[in-house]
Amino acid sequence: MDIKTYLNDKKKIVENGLKELMLPEEGPFLNHFEAMRYSLFAGGKRVRPILCLAAAEAVNHSADTQKNLLPVACALECIHTYSLVHDDLPAMDDDDLRRGQDTNHTLYGEAAAILAGDGLLTWGFDILSDTTNSPLSAEKRLAIIQVISRAAGPYGMVGGQALDIGSENSDFPFSTLQTIHKSKTGALITGSVHAGGLGADASKEQIEQLKIYGDKIGLAFQIVDDLLNATSTTEQLGKAAGSDASRGKATYPAYFGVEGTRQKALEAVDGAIGALQDFDDQADPLRALARYIYTRSN
Ligand code: IPE
Ligand code: IPE
Ligand code: MG
Ligand code: MG
Repeated sequence: MDIKTYLNDKKKIVENGLKELMLPEEGPFLNHFEAMRYSLFAGGKRVRPILCLAAAEAVNHSADTQKNLLPVACALECIHTYSLVHDDLPAMDDDDLRRGQDTNHTLYGEAAAILAGDGLLTWGFDILSDTTNSPLSAEKRLAIIQVISRAAGPYGMVGGQALDIGSENSDFPFSTLQTIHKSKTGALITGSVHAGGLGADASKEQIEQLKIYGDKIGLAFQIVDDLLNATSTTEQLGKAAGSDASRGKATYPAYFGVEGTRQKALEAVDGAIGALQDFDDQADPLRALARYIYTRSN
């Protein structure tokens, strides 16, 4: 399978889904909606929603499953986008460029950017709980909401962000770096895959295997993010290169060097593909996504 075509096709589906759900272009909250819309459509890769749909596809290929899960996939992108808007704030990573464009706070100001992030996060859960947008059963919907809340919240992404910020310019053991990566980035990636599996009625065994796959690609994703920050250019990344070192962030390249880091990422990707051994060729997109996470250039 050609992963580029797959990614492009799925990206279009997700973006159309987001446009359909999108907030009105009139009314009293216009400026707030505009700031939310700006970051949501600023050109992300849509990896988390695509992983959610690909995980569902690995379990159940039916068009209905994909259609029913599209709002879940879109909600994941809203939650991810909020995390980027807040991550870039002056009080956090203080970045001016994201997805090749001005960061939200650079354009709209800090207060509006904080609120755009709050809006995207909360709206994500509004989409997840809205029974009019897909016929997912109440039980399944609740299970998905629980998985995504855990992944995004204090035990997952937000906890990891707190640890990341609290660890700047300090020495800490490698195990802490692993915890940061697994939580700030890995948790929502695993949650995306897990949610896709739940939406497609995966068996308990399949869910366990999908979670191992998610944990490993989630870690690989952040290892590669560290690697690209250290070795690529701002033009290529669409966000500041070299910023981890200047902000005193502990990263994989700081521990293992560039080659050692590549090796760690590759091991995680191989482990992820290994976790899918009981899945048939319907899981090929997940396998190709794991390889793409290693070879991606932005
Ligand atoms: C960037 O995520 C932040 C991390 C968690 C490493 P992505 O690389 O998925 O960013 P976009 O959504 O494509 O901009
Ligand atoms: C981002 O981590 C993690 C989240 C936004 C949750 P980084 O701060 O390392 O990611 P980039 O490099 O700014 O995208
Ligand atoms: Mg950060
Ligand atoms: Mg950052």
